[in-house]
Amino acid sequence: MNYIIALASALSLLTTALAVPLSERQGAQTVHLTFHCGPAEYSMAFPADGTVYSTNETDMAVNIIDAPDYNAYGQCQFMTAGQATLASGFSSTGVNQIHIGPPQPVLGVSCQGMCVPTYGECFRNGQYVGPCCNGFCAANRCRPWVNPSV
Ligand SMILES: *[C@@H]1O[C@H](CO)[C@@H](O)[C@H](O)[C@H]1NC(C)=O
Repeated sequence: MNYIIALASALSLLTTALAVPLSERQGAQTVHLTFHCGPAEYSMAFPADGTVYSTNETDMAVNIIDAPDYNAYGQCQFMTAGQATLASGFSSTGVNQIHIGPPQPVLGVSCQGMCVPTYGECFRNGQYVGPCCNGFCAANRCRPWVNPSV
C-alpha cells in the first residue's frame, strides 16, 4: 500500500518534471530583478524556466523593477495584486526597467526563454539568435542602452 502511494507520487513528480521541455530545464538563465517600492527595495534571483516564483512581498507597492541581465519586459510575466500597466524603459545608467502603474504589490513572476548578453551575437551567420538581455541588437551584436564610455 505504502509502496503504491510512494510510486504514484514519484510518477506524478516525474510527470510534472516532464511537462517542462528538456531544453528549458537544462541551462535556464538566471534572472536577477530588483523591485523598487519608493525608497524601499527587494531583490530576487530565479531561473527563467517558466515557473511562477513568489516574491513573498504582498504589501510592498512596486513602481519600478530593474532587470540588469534579462529581457524581462518581453520574456517575463508579472502577477500583480490588481490591474497594472507595464511600460519598458531603462535607467540613466542603461539598466532595463519596467514601470508599473499604478504602483502595487507584485506577487509572483515567471520568465521563459534565453536572451543574449551585452556584446553577444544576436545574429550569427545571418541567423537570428535571440533578443538582447539588456540593450539592442545592432551590427549582429547586443549593444548596451547607454554607451559606457560616455
Ligand atoms: C518565498 O517563500 C518560499 C517558501 O518559503 C521560498 O521557497 C521562496 O524562495 C521565497 N521567495 C523569495 C523570493 O524569497
